[in-house]
Amino acid sequence: MRNPIVAANWKMHKTPSETEDFLRGFVVLAKAGEPVDIVIAPPYISLAAASAALTQHDSIKLAAQNMHYEQSGAFTGEISPLMLREMLIHYVILGHSERRAIFGETDEIINRKVLAAHQFNIKPILCVGETLEERDAGRLEEVLTTQLKGGLAGVSADQMINTVLAYEPVWAIGTGRTASSAQAQEAHAFIRSVLANLYDPETARRVRIQYGGSVKPGNMEELAMQPDVDGALVGGASLESGSFWEICRAAAAGATRKASA
Ligand code: PGA
Repeated sequence: MRNPIVAANWKMHKTPSETEDFLRGFVVLAKAGEPVDIVIAPPYISLAAASAALTQHDSIKLAAQNMHYEQSGAFTGEISPLMLREMLIHYVILGHSERRAIFGETDEIINRKVLAAHQFNIKPILCVGETLEERDAGRLEEVLTTQLKGGLAGVSADQMINTVLAYEPVWAIGTGRTASSAQAQEAHAFIRSVLANLYDPETARRVRIQYGGSVKPGNMEELAMQPDVDGALVGGASLESGSFWEICRAAAAGATRKASA
C-alpha cells in the first residue's frame, strides 16, 4: 500500500514571519499524527524560517517550489539544488503549470531539473496536466504522455520510485472547479499505465500520484479513496493551518477506507 502524501504549495504567499505563524499553529494540530506524509513548500525566502520552526518536527518535510538545474554559475536570480540540499529540503515541485505557462518552462528544461534533483537526493514532485482546450479536444492522454516521457527522460526505475507525480488539470487550479473523483481516477490510472510502459508494472505500482486542483477539506477524502490517487498537491486551501490539517486528515481517512474496502 502506498502512503498518501499531501503537499502545501504556497506559491507566492507568506513572508518568513507569516511562515513561522502558520507553523506554530500547524505543528500543534499535526501532533495528533496521521498515516500521511506531509510536505510544505514555502517561497524560497521563507525556507530558512520554516526549517528552524520544524527542527523538533521532522515528520513534516519541506519542499522548494522550483530550482535551477545547475549547481552554481551565472544564473541571476536562480537557486540551485546544492543550495536547497544544504537547507535540508527533501522535495522540490517541478513543472508546475504556472512555471510552464507563465515562465515558459518546457519538458526539456523540467527534465534537466528532475535529473538534477535526483543527483542531489531531493525528491521531485513532477506536475503534469492538461488545459481545458486540450481536454475538450480529446488530447488528455497525448498531453500526459508527452509531459511524462519528456519530464522523465533518463530517470532510472530506482529514481522513479523516489519521484512523486502530481496530476493537476490546469482548468481545476485555483478555479474552485475540482475534477470529479472519477475524472481524477481515470487520469491517474492512465498515468500509471504510462509508467508501466516506460518502466515496469511493479515500479508503476509503487509511484505515488497526487491530485491537485481546488482540493479542499470537503473533497479530499473522496479523491483519496480512488485506487490510484495518493494524496494531493494543495494551493489555496493550504494557506490556513486548520484547513491544511483537515486535508491531511481527510487524505489519511480516504486511504484507510480504501485499504480496508
Ligand atoms: P489550488 O492550487 O489548490 O489553489 O487549486 C493547486 C496547485 O496549483 O498546486
